[in-house]
Order: sequence, then structure tokens, then C-alpha cells
Amino acid sequence: MGERQKILVSVAWPYANGDLHVGHLAGAYLPADVFARYHRLMGNDVLMVSGSDSHGTPVTLRAEQEGTTATEVFERFHQRFLETQRDIGISYSLFTHTDTANHHAVSQGIFLALLNNGYLYTERQHQFYSETLGRFLPDRYVEGTCPYCGYAEARGDQCDNCGKILDALELGNPRTKIDGSVPVIRETEHFVLDLPKLGPAVLRYLEDDKDFWRPTVLNFSRNYVKALKGRAITRDIEWGIPVPVPGYEDKRLYVWFEAVIGYLSASIEEAALRGTPDAWKSWWYAPDARSYYFIGKDNTVFHTVIWPAELIGAERLYEDDPNARLNLPTDVPANEFMNLAGAQFSKSRGHVITLVDLLTRFDPDALRYYVSVVMPETSDSDFLWDDFVKRNNGELVAVWGNLVHRVLSFTHKHFGEIPHPGVLAAVDLELLEHVEAGFATVGAQLAGCHFRAALSEAFALAREANRYLEVKSPWSQLKVDREAAATTLYVALQAIDMLKTMLAPFLPFTAEKLHRALGHEAPLFGTQVIEQVGGPGDEHAVLRYDDSNASGCWQRAELPAGRPLERPEPLFTKLDESVIAEELARMGA
Ligand code: MF3
Ligand code: ZN
Repeated sequence: MGERQKILVSVAWPYANGDLHVGHLAGAYLPADVFARYHRLMGNDVLMVSGSDSHGTPVTLRAEQEGTTATEVFERFHQRFLETQRDIGISYSLFTHTDTANHHAVSQGIFLALLNNGYLYTERQHQFYSETLGRFLPDRYVEGTCPYCGYAEARGDQCDNCGKILDALELGNPRTKIDGSVPVIRETEHFVLDLPKLGPAVLRYLEDDKDFWRPTVLNFSRNYVKALKGRAITRDIEWGIPVPVPGYEDKRLYVWFEAVIGYLSASIEEAALRGTPDAWKSWWYAPDARSYYFIGKDNTVFHTVIWPAELIGAERLYEDDPNARLNLPTDVPANEFMNLAGAQFSKSRGHVITLVDLLTRFDPDALRYYVSVVMPETSDSDFLWDDFVKRNNGELVAVWGNLVHRVLSFTHKHFGEIPHPGVLAAVDLELLEHVEAGFATVGAQLAGCHFRAALSEAFALAREANRYLEVKSPWSQLKVDREAAATTLYVALQAIDMLKTMLAPFLPFTAEKLHRALGHEAPLFGTQVIEQVGGPGDEHAVLRYDDSNASGCWQRAELPAGRPLERPEPLFTKLDESVIAEELARMGA
């Protein structure tokens, strides 16, 4: 293995206004986690960060509907996010939130750096104002007809139907979400990010060596950057980060301006929590560090255009060196959407299956497997209950689970240890060679963010191992030639051990169990812990990853003959066909 690379894995920050669902998992968290785990097994230095998006109107709207405060709403869902993501195994180095003292300070720092570097100006603007409520209305508080597709219930910030980003003033037939009244237009003053001035630098970034980007992401971003307008980055609201300029006490930073800054602030917080406060710089300044942003496609411009513009415009934020510029995203492998039995997952429209709920009935690796095989990498995909049951039973259980269970239980029963093989024949060596070559081929797919291809490649090797067993048939060999059976089982166990490592990024829970069952002492991966951190007034719960004992390596491991084996437990559960009807009924279909 070569030098340890610094890999920043940045994951979209979920609004803390409702439980996480399969769409979140498929769109961002699972690909990010698979990628991070692969790089950790490769021995690279992974920093994987995200957190709850505490601000923004999704949170205040929910608070208003429930008659409670924004703080109460975001803290409730933040706590649930920590537990859900631990339980489905999303191995964040740090999952924090955007209402920490640190995030406020870093966001205000970026704002002031942009101001000092000449990339902000103020402008009087028109904004919807509610005379009944006596206040300005954020875009999400206004609904109306989408000017692009005619959808009648478009939100003022973005149309749920065609996905276009909107300005509430463009809506036809506008009305206030809170009380249905018709808003009026008033003047107000805001800070504007000078995107036309930053545009050429962002375009240069988007044109430089981006062949490995997903073509849809790249084309969309390049087109977008060619027609940039200034974008207001302050709002007339109470919930959010104060604008660090006298005279603007009643305004807050726009949620999208500051949420993306979370990638940086969480990196800084993570370093502080580990007692190495400067450690984040090796991910953010070193020219050979790489950063990957896992997001859903509706978040693309914020990550490929706005965030790079903020990073470019805020140069010399922390370093006096005139060349000091924070690293721009290496890749933004945005996923398409995963639909739920035909219709788009949508928290705001109540069409969801939440992960907390699913985890009460299904194993995390069964969910991770299905979501990985139908991951919406290049086009939208569907979460279908019959397909879930079919692939769980026909692939996860029948191909991989059976391979493992047949070999481990038979070996345990007749040998009680990893058998001592005789001389390996061509057919034995060939299987081991093919499987071992998977470290390169599966690894290349993972490094390139081709998750479906990586998984199908690893499964092809598991099928090959099954065919090897059929041909060699150790159960018949045992009756006539114990050494021949020992050789076959030894070879099969070596293959299983390698396949376990290749599948571990996708199936970390069962891979860890299998790793132990094969007698490896130190765990493959680290452990996820929920902790209370922060000083007085800034206490908050976070999810962290402790990898001090992890020993997994993306290569063939030592699996010595003679090592005792314990009685194996099946790793996966076959699902009854009745699950399909039950789940459809649960969804009210
Ligand atoms: N909170 C946003 C959403 O759920 C995503 C924010 S990603 C970030 O759509 F990077 F901006 F934080
Ligand atoms: Zn539309």
C-alpha cells in the first residue's frame, strides 16, 4: 500500500425537521459510508463529516405547526438522527449540528472574509411581507404556481415537481403557508454574494480536469455558472446565525449560505475534539488531499457552484499566506432520487418510510444491501417491496449468506478449525487468484464512486466461489478423502475471508460478525459512539467514530490452518413473501 491519503468525505446535512428516510440513505449517506469504509480499509486518513441542518424554514415551519420552538424541533430530530445513523452504520468521524458556537463563528468568519475580500455588497430588494403576521416571509413560507412547470403547489424556494430553484416572487397566485393570506411586496436590505465576480474562477475550477465527474453533474454545473446572478445571503428572520455587522441585528445568515460551511466547521470541531486543533488543515489546505461531497441531485448547485464560490472568495481566512486557499471539492458524485414504490420520497408531502421504523423490522445490512443494488447513481430508481424481498432472499441470502453458512457450519462440524489443506491444485489456485484480483477491480469501482458496479463485481466472485463448491463438493469428498475435503474447505474459507473484506463497506455489521467467526481478533472497523460535547451554553450531542482498535485491511489476510472455529450463526434472514403485502398495507397503498 502506498502513502496514506487524506480523504474528506462530506455528506449532505439533513434538515432537522423530520425523521430520516430511505431517500436520504440512498441519496447520500450510504454511498458516503461505503466510500469512507473502503478508504479506511485502504489505510487512508478519512475524515467524514456532517450534521443536522438546524436552521432554515423547514425547521421553523414545523415548529410553527406544532406550536413549539425551532430549538425544540431541531434538538428532538438531531437526537433521533444520531441514533438512526449509528444503527444503520453511517460511520461519521463527526456528525454535529449547525447551532454550535463553533459553526456560528466559522460561518461569520467566512462572511467577514468575503466582505473584506470584496465579494459582498448590499442591495435593497423586494420581499414578500405578511400584513396579517407583521413580518417578512422566507421563500418557503410562500406557495404558488411554478413558473416553469405550472405545478400549483410549488414552494417559494424550489419546485417539488420539476426541481427548479425558485425565487418566491416568481410564483403565480402566491399565498402564505401559515394562514393562507395573500402576501404583499415590501423593500428590505440584504447582503448579496457577488457571484458574477466569482463566476470566472468557479468556471475555471469546473473546467479543470473533471473527466471523472458524473456527466449530469458536470454539465448542469457548467451551464449554471455561465449565467450567474448575485444571491442574497441574509434574511429577515429570527432563527439562524446573526449577521456579524452592526445595524443588521434583525437579520440572519441565509441557511444555504451557512449550512455548506458546516463541512469546514465540522472538520475544525472534529480536530478540536481529538485534541489536535490544527489537524483539519491537512484535509483543507494540503494540495494532494481529496474531498468528495455526497449529496442528492437537488443540492448540486450549492455544492458545485455556491460552495466553491464561498471558498474561493474567502481566501486568506485562516492563513496569512496570500496563496492560502481552502481546497475545492475534488468530486461531487450527486445521486439521483430513489422513489418509493413509484412516487418521490418527500418529507414535506408525508410520502416516506422512515429508517427508524424500518430498523425495527429489518437488519441494517439487509437494508444497506437492497439500497446499494438499486442505488440511484445514474438515474432515478425505485424502492419496491417485492424487489426488496426478492433480492434479499435470492441474492443476499442465497448467494452470499449460503456460501458462508454452508462452508462455516460444515467445516465447524467436521474439523472444528480451519482445516490443514493438502497440495492446492490448479482449480483451487484459480479461485483464490480470481477472488484476490477483486481487491483491485472492486476497489477501483469503489474509488470511482461506482457503487452498484463494485457490489455486482463482488457478488460475481461469490457466485464463482459457489460454483467452485458445487464442482468440488466437499460433502462428497469427505466420505472418501478427508484431505481433499480439507483442501476444498480451506480454499473456500480463504475466498470467503477475502470476499468478506470486499463486501464490508456495504455490509459492515455482518462482515464484522463473520470476521470474528473466522477467528480474527481485532475488529475490521471502529465503533460509533454518541457523546455529549461542548462547553457551558454550547453542550450538544454528536456521533463520532473511534477506530483505535480497527484492523481491517483491503487485502488478503492471514487465515492460518489450525485456527479453531466457533459454531457459526447465520448472518442473514430469509424474508417471508407476506412481508410485501404487510409493508404495502403499512404504507397505506
Ligand atoms: N439541509 C439540506 C437538505 O436537507 C441539505 C443541506 S446540504 C448542506 O436538503 F451542505 F448545505 F448542508
Ligand atoms: Zn416546477
